[in-house]
Amino acid sequence: MNDFSNDLKYILQVAIDSSKAAGDFVLKNMQKATKIDFKGRVNMVTGVDKGSQEIIVSKILKEFPGAGILAEESGESNVESDFKWIIDPLDGTTNFVHGFPCFAVSIAVEINGRIKVAVVHDPYHQETFYAIEGGGAYLNGSKIRVSQVNRLINSLLATGFPYELNEYFYKNMEIFKALYQKCQGIRRAGAATIDMCYVACGRFDGYWEFYLNPWDVAAGYLIVKEAGGKLSNASGREFSIYGHEYVATNGLIHDEILSVIKNFV
Ligand code: IPD
Ligand code: CA
Ligand code: CA
Repeated sequence: MNDFSNDLKYILQVAIDSSKAAGDFVLKNMQKATKIDFKGRVNMVTGVDKGSQEIIVSKILKEFPGAGILAEESGESNVESDFKWIIDPLDGTTNFVHGFPCFAVSIAVEINGRIKVAVVHDPYHQETFYAIEGGGAYLNGSKIRVSQVNRLINSLLATGFPYELNEYFYKNMEIFKALYQKCQGIRRAGAATIDMCYVACGRFDGYWEFYLNPWDVAAGYLIVKEAGGKLSNASGREFSIYGHEYVATNGLIHDEILSVIKNFV
């Protein structure tokens, strides 16, 4: 860990506390009537997404006035800051609206262009995944590692589909069909942050998706990396939270999964 390790620990604590406060709020409001607006054809935003975000942002700005904020429901503020908090206040909104218990609060902290701290908190299952760059990845205080599965045919995979029926949706349908024949199963649970954390702790062996936003993948990226996993884009080049293609695996099946995905991108 670098010289900022104490600062990073403090930042992590603020991120964990904020995600838990927001998670308690989310859980308390599960299956209660809430105002739903539509951002697209089926892309919903509820009062709970917004309320969760308010809780997180107010806590962060109280601790770190002037910090940069990139949050799903409000866009970007203090853009010039090199200390940026990237927030998905409720990942898995469709699940949340239907009472399907797979959703999370996700917070990542980017310092000088690098993700240094990450938290994904699943309030329903009371699971908090977190990582500091160089310090390993944890679930509720215990160190986690990616799985040891080394053949695609023995793997359990996860993916997701964009809300809009765009080129990525059709492309991913083809990839789904091709990979389905080469692994033990593919889950589409509906929360990218949880999919990635499940790769980090070995419940999934690999995950891929297209066309997400930085707040969907920023925290998961560091948690997978610190758990010993491998991340890249769909062609095997460097993973970027600002890109459109995301592949995260235990490392052992990375080349094999890419050899299939590459045929479609
Ligand atoms: C969504 C979830 C889902 C993914 C979608 C995302 P949201 O985030 O992560 O798994 O497939 O494309 O947009 O809208 O629930 O925060
Ligand atoms: Ca999301
Ligand atoms: Ca969201």
